[in-house]
Amino acid sequence: MSDMAALASHVQADALGLAAPLLEIDDVTVQYKTDQYLVTAAHQVSFKVYPSDRYVLFGPSGCGKSTLLKAVGGYVRPTQGTIRLKGREILEPGPDRMMVFQEFDQLLPWKTVRQNIEFALEASGRLKGPQVVERAAHYLDKVGLSAFQDSYPHMLSGGMKQRVSIARGMAMEPDVLLMDEPFAALDVQARRKMQDELLRLWDDTHFTVMFVTHSIEEAIRIGTRILLLSPHPGQVKAELNSVPRDDEQAESRARLEARINEMLFTFEDAAT
Ligand SMILES: Nc1ncnc2c1ncn2[C@@H]1O[C@H](COP(=O)(O)OP(=O)(O)OP(=O)(O)O)[C@@H](O)[C@H]1O
Ligand SMILES: [Mg+2]
Repeated sequence: MSDMAALASHVQADALGLAAPLLEIDDVTVQYKTDQYLVTAAHQVSFKVYPSDRYVLFGPSGCGKSTLLKAVGGYVRPTQGTIRLKGREILEPGPDRMMVFQEFDQLLPWKTVRQNIEFALEASGRLKGPQVVERAAHYLDKVGLSAFQDSYPHMLSGGMKQRVSIARGMAMEPDVLLMDEPFAALDVQARRKMQDELLRLWDDTHFTVMFVTHSIEEAIRIGTRILLLSPHPGQVKAELNSVPRDDEQAESRARLEARINEMLFTFEDAAT
């Protein structure tokens, strides 16, 4: 299925009322409450994620992107509204939603690359014995790290560690992979390579991914759909289709980038 076909199928399904969203975020407000203050991180946010979407949350720093992703992960409970996965309300974390964070130190330092993935699989109780070994090897191969399976995390570069985290997340074969600025700490070239790799992995299995970024370029490259959030507290300003990858025209990308930029400046005007 090409990007274009994927988009078209949503639109058609929506129009016919047949669409079955994987994730439904419905009127979600998230507040953080401490003894001293109350912060509204996201305000009445609604959106739907469909199977095989590469769904990007985009917006300025502090607009609640990580908060919304954590809420989908089940780590943060909405103050108001509901989040449903396959129709069931999300009340806690689960192996059906795996998270990859920005930090490179998400691996257990005393376990090898292979053991890190196997440990996660065993802990989830989903697989046993030889199945665990086989599944871990399969995903290590997919991210091109078979040769490093017996290395410890401290022996790897930041990008390699991130690939292990991605392999670990994917090995659980979750309903949705949640990625919070996973490439932000990489240099431009490494970041580009990781983006390409993620898209190649997607071509293989069409997994559903929610991806947080505050880079417009990354949002357009990675996303099939882009949710634009306003500055703090985050509210939905727009939901856009990205440029299909099969559209080779640099012009379409530039046009979308200009449109997003324009919307960002409109937010700033409105805020001042
Ligand atoms: N654990 C917390 N306790 C209190 N306030 C928090 C907590 N986590 C986030 N916030 C606040 O909620 C708001 C949204 O934070 P969040 O981390 O979701 O933003 P973000 O869009 O991911 O920003 P960035 O792009 O900088 O990562 C911010 O004002 C932040 O200070
Ligand atoms: Mg964040």
